[in-house]
Amino acid sequence: MTLTIAIDGPAAAGKGTLSRQIAEEYGFHHLDTGLTYRATAKALLDASLPLDDEAVAERMALEVELSGLDRSVLSAHAIGEAASKIAVMPAVRRALVEAQRAFSKKEPGTVLDGRDIGTVVCPDAAVKLYVTASPEVRAKRRFDEIVGNGAVADYAAIFDDVKKRDERDMGRADSPLRPADDAHLLDTSEMSIEAAFQAAKSLIDAALIKKI
Ligand code: CDP
Ligand code: CDP
Repeated sequence: MTLTIAIDGPAAAGKGTLSRQIAEEYGFHHLDTGLTYRATAKALLDASLPLDDEAVAERMALEVELSGLDRSVLSAHAIGEAASKIAVMPAVRRALVEAQRAFSKKEPGTVLDGRDIGTVVCPDAAVKLYVTASPEVRAKRRFDEIVGNGAVADYAAIFDDVKKRDERDMGRADSPLRPADDAHLLDTSEMSIEAAFQAAKSLIDAALIKKI
């Protein structure tokens, strides 16, 4: 039997950081599903293909290899923007969700993070966490990341971007970002990375004991 942990939430809430810690703690496989949308977008951009042709985008989505995904080659701002545009297309979502579901069945367990894991990809996940933080805190985290890498950042522009990304993710018709009814909410606005991990671990351990 496979145990799946679903982690959803808005941009820069801390999903990736938490998912990697959980995967390590429990010895589970981890998939950052945002990378599947980013890889599709990058393939379209690299081939100079349009971002508004659903059939073309679907073809690219069907080609995405989950094993080769690497955030460092998919992190460009333009790729994120394109990813969030093609993520509204039902055919693209269908293709990527199918691959994500297949991944979620790996033994002995999996952690998937994204926007629709608990609601659409893995509705039967053993544990669902909805990780969030205020838009101000999330924008500051992105700002610190960029400055930490030695680049120049504009907080107001990043804040604006976080708000726009939220609107697009929460407002789309197909699989909008929202907590599943049975998700545990984890607001990390005032939490360190370690505190968020300990809070998540307590929720997961309690949920897993109940399931056994
Ligand atoms: O995956 P997601 O976009 O939700 O966020 P992330 O990449 O895990 O985290 C975004 C940034 O916030 C990273 O630089 C983390 O180190 C930082 N972070 C934090 O400062 N406090 C937390 N509780 C969680 C993340
Ligand atoms: O760029 P950011 O870190 O905010 O997000 P990401 O996790 O890298 O995902 C890129 C884009 O893919 C997001 O803006 C979402 O619109 C989309 N996405 C989605 O629709 N469903 C998922 N399960 C994961 C990502």
